[in-house]
Amino acid sequence: MSITARNTPVVGTPDEVSYRLEPGSSLVGEVQVPGDKSMSHRAIMFGAIAHGVTEVRGFLEGEDSLHTLAAFRAMGVEITRGAPGEVTLVGRGPAALTAPADTIYLGNSGTAMRLMSGLLAGVGLPCKLSGDASLNGRPMRRVVEPLNRMGANIVSDPDGTPPLVLSAGASLDGIEYTCPVASAQIKSCLLLAGLHAKGRTIVHEPGVTRDHTERMLRGFGVEVDVDGSSASIEGGQQLQAAAIDVPGDISSAAFFLVGAAMTPGSRLRLPGVGMNPSRDGVIQILRLMGASIGIENPRLSGGEPVADLVVEGTRLRGIDVPRELVSLAIDEFPALFVAAAAAEGTTVVSGAAELRVKETDRIQVMVDGLHALGASLDATPDGAIIQGGGRLAGGTADSRGDHRTAMSFAIASLIADAPVSVLDCANVDTSFPGFASAARNVGLAIVEQRQAADA
Ligand code: S3P
Repeated sequence: MSITARNTPVVGTPDEVSYRLEPGSSLVGEVQVPGDKSMSHRAIMFGAIAHGVTEVRGFLEGEDSLHTLAAFRAMGVEITRGAPGEVTLVGRGPAALTAPADTIYLGNSGTAMRLMSGLLAGVGLPCKLSGDASLNGRPMRRVVEPLNRMGANIVSDPDGTPPLVLSAGASLDGIEYTCPVASAQIKSCLLLAGLHAKGRTIVHEPGVTRDHTERMLRGFGVEVDVDGSSASIEGGQQLQAAAIDVPGDISSAAFFLVGAAMTPGSRLRLPGVGMNPSRDGVIQILRLMGASIGIENPRLSGGEPVADLVVEGTRLRGIDVPRELVSLAIDEFPALFVAAAAAEGTTVVSGAAELRVKETDRIQVMVDGLHALGASLDATPDGAIIQGGGRLAGGTADSRGDHRTAMSFAIASLIADAPVSVLDCANVDTSFPGFASAARNVGLAIVEQRQAADA
């Protein structure tokens, strides 16, 4: 039996959620992390403009990817949700998309906004894309400028932030573009615009970024050329429906990898985690810090490498994080800051200025929060210098509404000597619904306190 997706975006004031954690446990057992967020967004977007019926399994039922799903339903695509993680899309090609009646609300999701801006600019659909206070403060010139260069009619607010307004009628030309920052979102935006542009679109990047767009487009029958950190696409190609198996999200696994790796006595197994080499920086960095992480049953699933991870607790040591690993672990730095606080010696993170324009300024939020818990660390313009010490005093850390900082402060309780409270955690539901119970099942002493917004 299948149930229908909720067809209205999740708008409104979220519940107040905070975590209360008892100090000093260890993590033992098995955690099945939810589906990869980056791939879940792309599976919906590509299935929606493909020809034929796309079946997705392992879809992340988190708020971010559900916003993408709701957006394409609002543009007339037939999308049904079956058992947990199962989504079916009836694609009738990009020309069948209809202009949405209302502003498309994308919540907290930068990926949804940046990728959809390129895709919809290429399709030529008039629409307005907006989000919550965090998303509406994030930089969009990085996609608006190159899209305008391709001929798109897209504008942001004067300060370069959302909402983004797209007007109909533009036809795009392919461009050759060098991204000023390493960003899979910019690259993907331009490749998706390039799908519907005249001629070829070529994107060069200053570093390697996640290549889910390139891999998944190939799964939908599109030719994409990749040469080092450059990717290109010829306009006018059609997508044919595909079956997509979404693996577990390594970015969600990261909290458990760090939590178990830094607490002697821990032993965790994480089955079915995506191991795309453009995403595995967290494993490489933790191993440089001395972590014991085994990679078992490596296999391919839907064009992506997947494996079961086994991590055991030990004493970590501080390192200078190699700059070439930064873009491969960009979402994992909040958790890695906690690993650094647990390590012996100093850890230096540099070349990571992009962390300042994520859902929050993740450098400042992690420095403030870990400081409040008793760690010794300083922010730098493009990273931080973290003095390890092994233990934290405990106290209250404010996640500032960022899912990844909230989960990072929660695992910091493993090395605390007194209880830890984490504030403003509702957005954990954007990427990891059920985080608190998954963590409790393997030994994290976490209580979720949820107060309804209208209470
Ligand atoms: C993502 C790319 C990354 C990452 C984000 C998801 C994607 O952003 O931080 O969470 O799915 O393409 P940037 O590419 O802008 O660094």
